[in-house]
Amino acid sequence: MARPRQNWTAEPWADDEALECVMVVPETRDTYSFIFRAPSGAWFDYQPGQFVTLDLPVPGGNVQRTYTISSSPSRPLSISVTVKAQAASVGTRWMLDHLTPGMRIRAYGPNGIFSFHRHPAAKYLFISAGSGITPMMSMTTWAWDRAQDTDIVFVHAAQRPSDIIFRDQLEHYVARVPGLQLRLTVEQPEPFRVWHGYQGRLNSLMLGLMAPDYLEREVFCCGPEPFMQAVREMLVSLGYDMDRYHQESFGAPVASEAEAPVIEDVAPDQDARAQVHFATSGVTAVCAETDTVLAVAKRAGLNIPSGCTFGLCGTCRIRKTAGEVHMVHNGGISDEDIAEGWILACCSNPMGRIAVEV
Ligand code: FES
Repeated sequence: MARPRQNWTAEPWADDEALECVMVVPETRDTYSFIFRAPSGAWFDYQPGQFVTLDLPVPGGNVQRTYTISSSPSRPLSISVTVKAQAASVGTRWMLDHLTPGMRIRAYGPNGIFSFHRHPAAKYLFISAGSGITPMMSMTTWAWDRAQDTDIVFVHAAQRPSDIIFRDQLEHYVARVPGLQLRLTVEQPEPFRVWHGYQGRLNSLMLGLMAPDYLEREVFCCGPEPFMQAVREMLVSLGYDMDRYHQESFGAPVASEAEAPVIEDVAPDQDARAQVHFATSGVTAVCAETDTVLAVAKRAGLNIPSGCTFGLCGTCRIRKTAGEVHMVHNGGISDEDIAEGWILACCSNPMGRIAVEV
């Protein structure tokens, strides 16, 4: 039988190629990893901690959902996302019920700024809960594969021991290198197996025991918003320097009045007319300045892939070739991209006439 060969000279994967699901791996009773490859043999280039947006063909029309990549770019032949069944989730439910090996779906990205590559530090503290473990897993696998001195304390909270995603893999990592320490806490132990870890909600006393030098560590946090809020409040009360705190969130950010960005440039005017020329499609649409480019495209029957719709995920990134937009994003685009003419369609208002490559 011919040995399958990897094309090591292949280009990195680009998101105009659909991904093929090659494996579905059960992780816990309600969590599965979906592993994808590029049919062309392309490899995956991204930063550990980033995410992709999947275009899921659910009944009634495609939906786009954003998932952190749980695999590491140090293992570039495939890419995986790890999803947990949520009662109200249409996209994730479809994946769990219908996405099987051999199926191909569109994906956009990778995007995102939640990566320790962007914040080099001597020591890290990862804090996650539930399926928020996925970006931490990607970063930890990267650190393991790099085989360099790494100092990571990895704190993870779960409901029960059997809910801890990637537990075996993480325990294997920490058993082999001194620089990786795993600290687990569960809300309730299970009766059929003795639990030796921490028990109860993460609190400041527990944190002091888990990572006594936490004040010296760069913190990365991911989990449900109430969990992250509790972690933020705890760190603030402990005198932690919050400039060194980073969190991943796929919910719309709620800026308090004090945190709200100060917009000093000209704001869009509801009564002012604007015009968007979609150059690739040859469509021109008239709109109000307060419309987003994404909404104008949708009304014109054009599809711009989108995910979060509030400037975080980067899925709706398009190139602007003429005119000015008013863009208030939430970190889904870099300053370099903006300088090169890219905008996020979901949070850009056309100021007068603009042209975009759509
Ligand atoms: S859809 Fe997420 S940044 Fe626009």
